Amino acid sequence: MQPIEEIKPQQSIELLKSLHILTRDGKVNQDSRRKLKQVYHLYQFIEPILTEIKEIKEDYLLVDHGAGKSYLGFILYDLFVKLSQGRVIGVEFNQKLIDQSEKLARELKFERLSFLTSDINSTANLIDSPVDIVTALHACDTATDDALHFGLNKKAAYIIVIPCCQAEVASHLKKNKAQSLKMPLAELWRHGIHTREMGSHLTNVLRCLLLESQGYQVTVTELVGWEHSMKNELIIAKRTGDKKGNATERIEKILHEFNLEALKSRFLI
Ligand SMILES: C[S@@+](CC[C@H](N)C(=O)[O-])C[C@H]1O[C@@H](n2cnc3c(N)ncnc32)[C@H](O)[C@@H]1O
Repeated sequence: MQPIEEIKPQQSIELLKSLHILTRDGKVNQDSRRKLKQVYHLYQFIEPILTEIKEIKEDYLLVDHGAGKSYLGFILYDLFVKLSQGRVIGVEFNQKLIDQSEKLARELKFERLSFLTSDINSTANLIDSPVDIVTALHACDTATDDALHFGLNKKAAYIIVIPCCQAEVASHLKKNKAQSLKMPLAELWRHGIHTREMGSHLTNVLRCLLLESQGYQVTVTELVGWEHSMKNELIIAKRTGDKKGNATERIEKILHEFNLEALKSRFLI
């Protein structure tokens, strides 16, 4: 066991124990040290955004979609939001996870951290207030797309996603493979494993174009430090209001060339 020098002064030891980042006796072991490093690494990207938004609006709202155990919401609240007037809402359709998160937030007196049991799809109508930041960390498959549509609908200042595995585009690539193989480029996804990887890559490319077509400036980074996961592409979109001129046209062309026109409603607004 090592001493806990990595813990920041504002952090709740109780929270870190509940999230199993600290052991029951409050220590960091090798495993939890790695976890803590990963959390800080992600926080390093989000902290400047929270700072920027807080300067503009004291009572800002961050909505975290596909919250799961609300690991991200709790950490952001503990490190930053509790020291400001901001709010965090974790959205998750698994009631059991919501119950657990609500209980922990009550115990820790994290009063501006709340939870909503909802499918991301129907959340826009349930949250009336303006939303400043939308996050989705490993929200499964098309749940990431639903989070993007939520952020676009709310005109959020920032949309931050780390996509999970993506199956939808790959399944369409697979279905239309015979047709696509008339062109040599379809070799890029002829083999099953390539279909999956190409599907995932293409999905994120289309997501970025969708954001750009709707007035967002997009940065795509590798979330280095997230060694335990292959899903480490971090997409940060900042609302500037400048719609990229050819983005919509490019989405249309890509969907056409890859025989993915059935997915128009997902990537075109
Ligand atoms: C892989 S987990 C990630 C959890 C958490 N964000 C994290 O990184 O630890 C994905 C979570 O998203 C939830 N989820 C998936 N699709 C959803 C949807 N359409 N609406 C709400 N929650 C969803 C799942 O129940 C699951 O808890």
